Amino acid sequence: MRKLAIIALCFVVCQYGYTQTPAEKQKIESLIKQMTLEEKVGQMTQVTLAVVAKGGWGNRDGSLDPVALKKAIDDYKVGSILNTTAHALSVDTWRTDMTEIQDETKNTRLKIPVIYGLDGIHGQTYTLNSTLFPQNIAMAATRNPELAAKAAKVTASELRASGVRWNFAPVLDCGRQPLWSRFPETYGEDVYIGKTMGAAGIKAYEEDGLKNITAVASCMKHYLGYSASRTGKDRTPIYMPEIEMREYYLPQFREAVKAGSSSIMINSGEINGEPVHASKYLLTDVLRTELGFQGLIVTDWEDIKRLYDRHNVASTPRAAVAMAVNAGIDMSMVPGDFSFYDLLIEAVKNKEVPMSRIDDAVRRILALKMKVGLFDNPYPEEAAKANFGKAEYQTLALDAAHEAMTLLKNSNNTLPLAKNMKVLVAGPAAQSITALNGCWSYTWQGNQEEWYPKDSKTILQAITDKLGAANVVTTTKKGFDDLANFDATQLKKAAAGVDAIILCLGENAYAESPGNTPELALPDEQLKLAEAAVLSGKPVILVLTEGRPRFITSIEPSMKGILMAYWSGKKTAEAIADVLFGDYNPDGILPFSYPRSMGEMVLYDRKPTEDVREVFNDNINTGYWPLFPFGWGLSYTTFEYSDIQLSSSTLKGDADLTLTVTIKNTGSKDGKHTVELYSHDLYASITPNMQRLRAFKKVSLKAGESQTVSFTINKNDLAFVNAQLKTVTEAGDFEVMIGNKKAKFTYEQ
Ligand code: BGC
Repeated sequence: MRKLAIIALCFVVCQYGYTQTPAEKQKIESLIKQMTLEEKVGQMTQVTLAVVAKGGWGNRDGSLDPVALKKAIDDYKVGSILNTTAHALSVDTWRTDMTEIQDETKNTRLKIPVIYGLDGIHGQTYTLNSTLFPQNIAMAATRNPELAAKAAKVTASELRASGVRWNFAPVLDCGRQPLWSRFPETYGEDVYIGKTMGAAGIKAYEEDGLKNITAVASCMKHYLGYSASRTGKDRTPIYMPEIEMREYYLPQFREAVKAGSSSIMINSGEINGEPVHASKYLLTDVLRTELGFQGLIVTDWEDIKRLYDRHNVASTPRAAVAMAVNAGIDMSMVPGDFSFYDLLIEAVKNKEVPMSRIDDAVRRILALKMKVGLFDNPYPEEAAKANFGKAEYQTLALDAAHEAMTLLKNSNNTLPLAKNMKVLVAGPAAQSITALNGCWSYTWQGNQEEWYPKDSKTILQAITDKLGAANVVTTTKKGFDDLANFDATQLKKAAAGVDAIILCLGENAYAESPGNTPELALPDEQLKLAEAAVLSGKPVILVLTEGRPRFITSIEPSMKGILMAYWSGKKTAEAIADVLFGDYNPDGILPFSYPRSMGEMVLYDRKPTEDVREVFNDNINTGYWPLFPFGWGLSYTTFEYSDIQLSSSTLKGDADLTLTVTIKNTGSKDGKHTVELYSHDLYASITPNMQRLRAFKKVSLKAGESQTVSFTINKNDLAFVNAQLKTVTEAGDFEVMIGNKKAKFTYEQ
């Protein structure tokens, strides 16, 4: 037992990038010694704001109920609170709430501060007028981790200004199932992008040191495999062999642990029949022992209760609590009552959970509170307030939205359009703000426009600003779902007097289960609108604001241009208008394979047999047949690559290999471009992927300018998970691809 305690202590003391001072260490140990079982279990309990708000679940203004607050903090000794009640609150309301909460902790015996957590997944969701950035899927299209880091820093600053020091982000789930309603929260289908972007975000949240007023503790989520549900429906079963889990879903978390993330949230789902919240293997053996994660493990919403009432692996609520805590859970997002507190106390008294496990959990919770400076000063810092809503954040939001824009099609260089053209801006997304921002935008679902900043623009407004009201007509009414927005007859009529139609289709905001969809095709009424637009005879430019790739295969051939705008945050409309009218040269590239149809859902890192289409005796390599491939994105200029130069034709042991190309902007416009390096292991003991993205660099080139780009790789960049579940690089021949160029080298062990 003593040995265990020493190990646990060392875990806490030696957290990456942060070392507890001897005084901090002593304070934690002395608290643990003094704490009663009730006080310890209270620390492990997290409730939602509604539990302590005036009017409970009916609360709309975030105001606290002193009696409920006293009950939570004094009677139940809760250690953490999360969430908002109905929608975003002002900075001042948050600061008042935080002050009242921490004031209440001063009345408790040990005066341990509460840690508050919120979901700032693409900007600070729940503070009014915060800056919203592109969703992860759109951020991934920028292939610009520095930009993602800058956005994360703003998110951290705006959370901290609101008095909150814990952010439930980044989402590290790998988006390999486009039906999944949380696909927009992912960095897409590739492991390397997820690792790179995720680590960039975590460092930005935490690198200043969590006592700093521009930092927040990150919470990587949702460990593990959450995105891989079989049906695509949220929180439904995942069946996954461990080799797949280790190849595609675990590396992002491994990297995030190395990047120093302070906490982790668990997947609400089940893998191979075992709910992850009950998996000692995943929570303790893999996460703690193998990955060396030393931070706090928190459940997702109600997930301990669900072990009993949904997953049915625990036959009583108390058995569920014991199962999860024994598996490795440190804190329960209960979050609507105090049942966890009562049940865990009973379970400990009945010897169903050892005290050592409770102490271990509490030690990690107190360590996080210490790390974010709550023991020094639990109140919202005065100076942090000035970091909310700075003017420069708007510029950053526009930069990020610009770089996300992905031009999928541009027949005969129809785009950019001339600014003296007369255009019809139509489709349900033309006058919607919510369809440009998506989930976790001022409300959980993001679909209530009244909470968005008043200066948010619709696509119609942004285009009108550019062309002048005289040159823009619309048939769309405010709000995505207005019936007029799908009226094909009106659209055709309005098209008569214009030079081009900008058709804004896609998805209105949704989050989690409400975003489950029975099919990926765009709804019929949107497809019909597109057909009507084409029948008008005017060139149609399709703008897609959507969180996941909805099938557009039937209308794609008749579109003159297609711009994938994703849900790119506050400045989505401005970025769309800038691209359509040539004020920004697009450089986003797809972080997923845009699928053609349900039967063509092959991913870019396909296996050899997926690459082949067997046609009698003639096998052809068209098995990977998306509508637009992974990495696709057009520019208004052209780029050419030189041949790839290798520093050697053999890579030996642990040595490095450098690959160099020169890229030239051969067109007439300045532009940015992402140089991507892919590898292909020609023969391996496990069927090799046809392509794996191993590195990328984004360059900015003036018209006519050239730049030499180098990548240095080693054997780890070429590794895969073998049949023994080990990550290995086997000797043999490799192909590397950059743009349309290829080169070969041999790896020798
Ligand atoms: C989501 C989490 C989120 C939590 C708290 C859950 O429903 O799955 O991603 O952090 O709510 O808001």
